[in-house]
Amino acid sequence: MPEPFYITTPIYYVNDKPHIGHCYSTLVADSVARFMRLAGRDVFFLTGTDEHSERVASAAVERSLTPIQWADDNAAAFKEAFAWMGFSNDDFIRTTESRHIDRVKQYIRTLMDKGDVVLGEYAGWWDHSQEEYLTETVARDAEYKSPVTGKPLVKRTEKNYFFKLSAYQDKLLAHIEAHPEFIRPEARRNEVLGRLRDGLQDVPISRAAPAEGAWGITMPDDLSHVVYVWIDALFNYMSTVDTDDRRTYWPAQVHVLAKDILWFHAVIWPCLLMALGKPLPECVYAHSFWIREGRKMSKSLGNFVDMPTVHAYADRFSIDGVRWYLLTQGPLGATDADFTYSKFLEVYNADLANGFGNAVSRVTNMIAKYFDGVVPEPEGGAGANLGIDWPALVKEKSGEARAAWARVDIGGALHAAMTVSRAVDQFVNDTAPFKLAKDPANLPKVGTILYQCAEALRIAAYLLSPAMPTSMCDAIGRLGYAPEGTPSYDTLMTWGQLAPGSTVRKGDALFPRADADADPPVATPETAGSP
Ligand code: MSP
Repeated sequence: MPEPFYITTPIYYVNDKPHIGHCYSTLVADSVARFMRLAGRDVFFLTGTDEHSERVASAAVERSLTPIQWADDNAAAFKEAFAWMGFSNDDFIRTTESRHIDRVKQYIRTLMDKGDVVLGEYAGWWDHSQEEYLTETVARDAEYKSPVTGKPLVKRTEKNYFFKLSAYQDKLLAHIEAHPEFIRPEARRNEVLGRLRDGLQDVPISRAAPAEGAWGITMPDDLSHVVYVWIDALFNYMSTVDTDDRRTYWPAQVHVLAKDILWFHAVIWPCLLMALGKPLPECVYAHSFWIREGRKMSKSLGNFVDMPTVHAYADRFSIDGVRWYLLTQGPLGATDADFTYSKFLEVYNADLANGFGNAVSRVTNMIAKYFDGVVPEPEGGAGANLGIDWPALVKEKSGEARAAWARVDIGGALHAAMTVSRAVDQFVNDTAPFKLAKDPANLPKVGTILYQCAEALRIAAYLLSPAMPTSMCDAIGRLGYAPEGTPSYDTLMTWGQLAPGSTVRKGDALFPRADADADPPVATPETAGSP
């Protein structure tokens, strides 16, 4: 039985339109999911929308809609954007679905039965823009303004159900200390550890519901309270797989998210799980933010890289070009990444147009010219060393890539793949098959060289495919590789799989060179219709 691999993204608030930030987290998860499928794991990749926020209810009222109508419209926009980006999620959970609501009620009831959720009174500083309470210390440090949006905090007193978070402090600390990979990257782990040492207080997990038509999941046996939206949302990771056919997926291997919501995922969520007696996820991976041309993206600046803009980039550079830029230049580590047109152009041309794409054209063109488009027999031996020990190189790089994907080191994994592609360029320059081919006596050697080039590019294409699925599928076909069934990762990575005698396909450039003097792509009336 293949080993399960469960990866999630945050579930996104439906009162915003999808933008590059949401796409990025989902793309990170998508590429890891795709690699793990290639590596033979039984993958379950989940994304979705978080819908019970108070802001959804108020936004709906402003538009004379019911909350669910407003949520339906925006959830559809997320689904559409994600399908267009080529995401391979196995499910899309909406917190307004009964399969989620029923489970949340069950979990809360279990926590109440155990005495981990109790009724009490809470007074605190409410950040309406983020829908969270801040402690006195945090509120004071932020001068009683939201640390995220700068909007004033409001003092609120509520009768609430509380979760006994403090009871799990020592257990959580011990878990984090014993599992260095639990919170990543390292800088984020240190932040959480630092804050945890200040101690944990019990947290409210419900809010008073308006008299009628409460938007949210009501507390078990108490219609006057709904489950606090954050608690409702966190449970999605469990509720979606808490069915007979999916239960093997828990615990998740990776929760992908950004630093803004790390506390909920690295502290509240694991404590809820411990209270429920469930195993903890293996890794909570909190990346940093995309900013744009040096400035934070915000509603007030109106400078989000929105979906119409992403469409405009894809029209010029292809969706895989966009995916490549985001994955190789993205804020996976502890620092923010800047989305700039100049960098996009530079990376696209260097890595894709002049890099991998050019290597595929060069090799397929030479095979067409010297061997009538038929992959030549490597008469000197598929693995003959004509300057590069190919079997050793691809073994090393495919091993590096696998280890890097497992640690969500996407830059490292794609770098290993590109090393193979760049080695082909070097090899062609050093062995100069185009010169050798002038003398027919050299054709057997030229055949061996070109076989090795095509085989190396086939392997590079597989290693790049989690990042650029469509174009790499095309590249593998052009190189004449058509496997039967679904070969294992080890087979795909084994040198010599490409069958001599297969037909290569020339064609338009995989990644046409981009004009360095052209203006940046901008949303047009055609792309503006996108979600
Ligand atoms: N609904 C909550 C999450 C609940 S998860 C149980 C939420 N939603 S959100 O719509 O605000 O999405 C926040 C997430 O979107 C971030 O954690 C990150 O994954 C992604 N991003 C939003 N803006 C981003 C950037 N500018 N850059 C990178 N990712 C960003 O919080």
